[in-house]
Amino acid sequence: MNVRKAILPVAGMGTRFLPATKAIPKELIPVIDKPVLQYVVEEAAAAGITEIVLVTHTSKPAIERHFAVDADLESDLRRRGKDELLALVEGICPAGVSFTFVLQDRVLGLGYAVSCAREVIGDEPFAVLLPDVLVDNRELGSDLATMIHRFQASGKSQVMVEEVDAQRVDQYGIVSLGASDHSLSEVSRVLAPSMSADMKAIVEKPSVGEVRSNLAVVGRYVFPASLFDYLASTSPGADGEIQLTDAVASLLQHSSVQAYRMEGVTYDCGSKVGCFQATLAFARRHPQFSAEFSALITQYQ
Ligand code: G1P
Repeated sequence: MNVRKAILPVAGMGTRFLPATKAIPKELIPVIDKPVLQYVVEEAAAAGITEIVLVTHTSKPAIERHFAVDADLESDLRRRGKDELLALVEGICPAGVSFTFVLQDRVLGLGYAVSCAREVIGDEPFAVLLPDVLVDNRELGSDLATMIHRFQASGKSQVMVEEVDAQRVDQYGIVSLGASDHSLSEVSRVLAPSMSADMKAIVEKPSVGEVRSNLAVVGRYVFPASLFDYLASTSPGADGEIQLTDAVASLLQHSSVQAYRMEGVTYDCGSKVGCFQATLAFARRHPQFSAEFSALITQYQ
């Protein structure tokens, strides 16, 4: 069955980005002139997703407003001949993509957030995209599209991973491939970029030194609908939250789950430095601003 739907959990509080996120949802923090969330929606659409399910919270109505048609704004821009701005506003929702908003009643962790979308997803396979994570595929193909194709061809769940510094494994879900973990330098040989390999284990935020692997889960997943059954029976884990990683570990006991090693790079836009890094990376090759940006960098260095 084709993967048409994607869940984007956007109910989180964004405490890492205070004070900016006191009134503004972290997902609407801009990278240059576009909210982080819009990049992630565009990534999903480019990979063939046609239904975006945003799991949100009543305290964040601006997210729904960003994706709603604003007829007054559009007619004002049209009347004033601001065609370029009008095109930007009209292009916020990618063509052929529908949006569904699901309200999350309680903040109980990522696994709980994903389970809130169960009714909308039904018995179809689906993708999950964490909007804190901005994937930069530069001129390469789309990592998410490759994951979706691989799932559709093999029926095996796909979890995107990248190597992180061994001192930072306690900030991520960490995937083990088995024997190769004994030497971190072997990872590149065992799992080259854009390849998938069966995972042996997955654990949420292990202590530094507890695991041999440094392959971290970086916010893109493709699952069969059966994941919801495992989520329903997942008890609170790390940080007292219902963890998506724990449900994946249960799924792994019954069917194949693969780690997909990404080709691109990620920026953690839930953090101030990550967002700054994304801004630098995207500004450098922005069609409109790259020249001005380069001049500014020289001026301020
Ligand atoms: C979540 C997931 C974790 C994953 C991370 C990627 O953690 O639980 O497995 O590695 O996203 O960003 P969070 O960053 O929400 O604590």
